[in-house]
Amino acid sequence: MIKEIIDQAIAYVKELFENEYSGHDYFHTIRVFKTATLIAKEENANLEVVQLAALLHDVDDRKLSPETYLEQSNARDFLLKQKIDRITIDNICEIIREISYMGTDSVTPRTIEGKCVQDADRLDALGAIGIARAFAYGGNHNRQMYNPDILPNMQMNKDEYYKSQSSTINHFYEKLLLLSKLMNTAAAQRIAKQREEYMNAFLDEFFLEWDGVR
Ligand code: ADP
Ligand code: NI
Repeated sequence: MIKEIIDQAIAYVKELFENEYSGHDYFHTIRVFKTATLIAKEENANLEVVQLAALLHDVDDRKLSPETYLEQSNARDFLLKQKIDRITIDNICEIIREISYMGTDSVTPRTIEGKCVQDADRLDALGAIGIARAFAYGGNHNRQMYNPDILPNMQMNKDEYYKSQSSTINHFYEKLLLLSKLMNTAAAQRIAKQREEYMNAFLDEFFLEWDGVR
């Protein structure tokens, strides 16, 4: 039964994100689904809740779906059509509502299921994939790749973070390199450390080439 709902959720996001080019495409959702499942097994979390929340985590994203984001209406409408009890639906919607990074106003999810999904989403912003997604997002939003005259602001609150127009390289310092310390679970902390090392090596090389040292 749950397998059927999962398959329907996969088909739903595949269609919904068909024309998504800002790093939040269908394949991002599938990676988050896989990583969240891996973390959830280590944490003995409820797999049904984790997997559905992971698959639906971006369907009401503030940037992708501003008209449904306050009520998580896309996720709720999808879940109400399935044979799922009301409490589980509310749990999943709460996870989706609290998942996003909001600078210093970011929320730590109340449940272990929420912690697993938030960690999986944040892990996909790190490592080689994270670097690729950041530049895809930057290009999609007309951001400069890098501008040495604009310094990063590492202490932004929600409003400042939402308004920021900073370069993609600054985004590494303003968010991406802050994430490993914010991971909720031990598994995610381990993976984040490795991915962060890779990003630091990338930045070292980037600045050497920028300065014409190599
Ligand atoms: P969350 O998943 O916490 O809601 P976002 O949707 O804002 O966070 O970020 C997801 C992806 O979009 C990340 O991989 C991140 O690198 C990219 N991204 C978000 N904002 C920016 C930005 N200002 N510059 C470059 N990439 C960004
Ligand atoms: Ni996401």
